[in-house]
Amino acid sequence: MNGDSIDAYETHARAFLAARDRSTVGVAVVKRWARSLPAGAEVLEIGCGGGYPVTRTLVDAGLRVFAVDASPTLLTEFAARFPDLPTECAAAQTAACFARQFDAVIAIGLVFLLDADDQAALIERMATLLVAGGRGLFTAPLEPGTWADVTTGHACLSLGEARYSTLLHGAGCRIVATRADEGRNNYYDVQRVERS
Ligand SMILES: C[S@@+](CC[C@H](N)C(=O)[O-])C[C@H]1O[C@@H](n2cnc3c(N)ncnc32)[C@H](O)[C@@H]1O
Repeated sequence: MNGDSIDAYETHARAFLAARDRSTVGVAVVKRWARSLPAGAEVLEIGCGGGYPVTRTLVDAGLRVFAVDASPTLLTEFAARFPDLPTECAAAQTAACFARQFDAVIAIGLVFLLDADDQAALIERMATLLVAGGRGLFTAPLEPGTWADVTTGHACLSLGEARYSTLLHGAGCRIVATRADEGRNNYYDVQRVERS
């Protein structure tokens, strides 16, 4: 396992909020994806952080967000900002995720924090959380590689587009598009289809 991303974010929660609350990186990509969903779609957000700017963008688009994050500090802040939204404080690897399926699942800044096995398991899990035809959006680079997370120093891991594509197809999903934001982060926009 490449360290514990949960401890890393809980330890650096205040520093993360101070930086991310002021950031608009990714908003345009998330807004575009949100607008492609049915009106009032129910969306599971895994790794929601403090909710600014991603959850804010989803809510402003009229989507109904259910949120999961493992950091008590970040989720407490999130709940203060979005008191009407259902939340679960749990690791993505073991979260109940409200024990239901969703029209869409989004995970921004999360997948590459996990080790390779947990990334594969999370992609499979996200697929099962989607209704047929449901949409997913997650960030991970196109190229394989490793780097240190800017806020926490946590060791991040990209499996690369070829491996993510294999995992997604194996989980019954197709890649609708890949998109880049102003911070050069890559987004996989995916859809659940029937398993082959
Ligand atoms: C880079 S931040 C992104 C937060 C938010 N999605 C955003 O774009 O501002 C990563 C988030 O994932 C959460 N996280 C890290 N490891 C996790 C895990 N194993 N399960 C659930 N959440 C996790 C952290 O607490 C943090 O909120």
